[in-house]
Amino acid sequence: MKLFLDTADIDEIRTVNSWGVLDGVTTNPTLFGKVKGMTYEEVLQEICGINGGPVSAEVVADDVEGMLREGRHYAKLADNIVVKVPMSENGLAAMSRFKAEGIKTNCTLIFTANQGLLAAKAGASLLSPFVGRVDDINEDGMQVIRELAEIIRFFEYDSEVLTASVRHPRHVTEAALNGSHIATLPFKVFQQMVHHPLTDKGIVQFKRDWEAARAALNDGAKEASPKREPAKVG
Ligand code: G3P
Repeated sequence: MKLFLDTADIDEIRTVNSWGVLDGVTTNPTLFGKVKGMTYEEVLQEICGINGGPVSAEVVADDVEGMLREGRHYAKLADNIVVKVPMSENGLAAMSRFKAEGIKTNCTLIFTANQGLLAAKAGASLLSPFVGRVDDINEDGMQVIRELAEIIRFFEYDSEVLTASVRHPRHVTEAALNGSHIATLPFKVFQQMVHHPLTDKGIVQFKRDWEAARAALNDGAKEASPKREPAKVG
């Protein structure tokens, strides 16, 4: 399973990239809004320089021509840019045009398997159901993942399911078990996945025991070595 970071924060991307577990990055206008002092283009280029996996850049236009204009512009910034297009009638039209031009797309704001099926047929490479937001309205986000992953495999569409709106580590495990090809995670969820109270406690205990063992060894060596008599004078 591939794991992406859902952020536009360069430090977070550098950190997870250094762990050797980062397969790509997804950004959106909300995440870009948290970055200070850089244009969206500058942020995207910097991210593409850190990680060679797919980096999603989202269009905000509502009309097909506007989506195409923005998407073509982002696609020129780096080879690994994937244009993120919202699920809509115009979005489907734009995704099928991007497909014909050889520009990869990530269909965002998917909330049902049917929306994902349409995006796959329009040629989107990545299909992003938002599981957290489905859970928020008292429905089952993982059901969308399960259904869509099965449809994609059954008909052998050339698209991957990308579980988005991940809120906690359990979402990642469930996405994996339900056949999602990718999950995109906030930095905090990556960190939560690393840690376990017993792991952290175990690390402290092993270090303490190691230091105690070395101290005991040093004390033993001191006791074993003969004490020197002070030299007699006169
Ligand atoms: O990848 C989409 C994601 O950023 C949305 O997450 O938590 O705002 O629903 P959230």
